Amino acid sequence: MEREDPSARMSSRGQARPADLFTNPLNFIAEVHMREREICAMIDTIATNDVPNEADCAAVAAFLRCQLPRHLEDEELDLFPMMLARCDPEDDIGPVIEKLLHDRGHAAVDTPEILLVLDDGAAIKTGFDDVARAMFLAFASHSRRHLILENAIILPIARARLTAKDLKLMRQHMLERRGLDVLLARFAPPH
Ligand SMILES: [Fe+2]
Repeated sequence: MEREDPSARMSSRGQARPADLFTNPLNFIAEVHMREREICAMIDTIATNDVPNEADCAAVAAFLRCQLPRHLEDEELDLFPMMLARCDPEDDIGPVIEKLLHDRGHAAVDTPEILLVLDDGAAIKTGFDDVARAMFLAFASHSRRHLILENAIILPIARARLTAKDLKLMRQHMLERRGLDVLLARFAPPH
């Protein structure tokens, strides 16, 4: 059987499709994680090429500026609190969420540094120095570790524990965060 190409489910700009938000918000979060994995691969390439690809630098900067902050809010303001409320004690989800939140504190410090380097047009033309390369590789490595935790532990437990009401509320908040709730209301069929 032919395997589905995950990138075919992305929009032409490589972002998770807003349409997926209209179905199950956990599927949308999983798609953002796939995009994040692609971004990590791009960061590795940027860090190891003599001269980085300008389009890759722009794509990584766009993801870190636009898509990632909303994704982090989706998880921190909706997904994680709902899981803490719904999970059984034997799920032992508290320490996992605590670790993710603690590590994100460090990522929040690193991201502006990464963006500063990615915005340096002169360095992109001549190649990044060793300090910047090491910073890129460390950032991608940390991000991958979080993705493993989120995909292997958080999302499967969320799918088992969150209720239809939770998912509806999460979907509504995610649409609002992206200004899509207004758009959806405008094109809703008349009652
Ligand atoms: Fe995530």
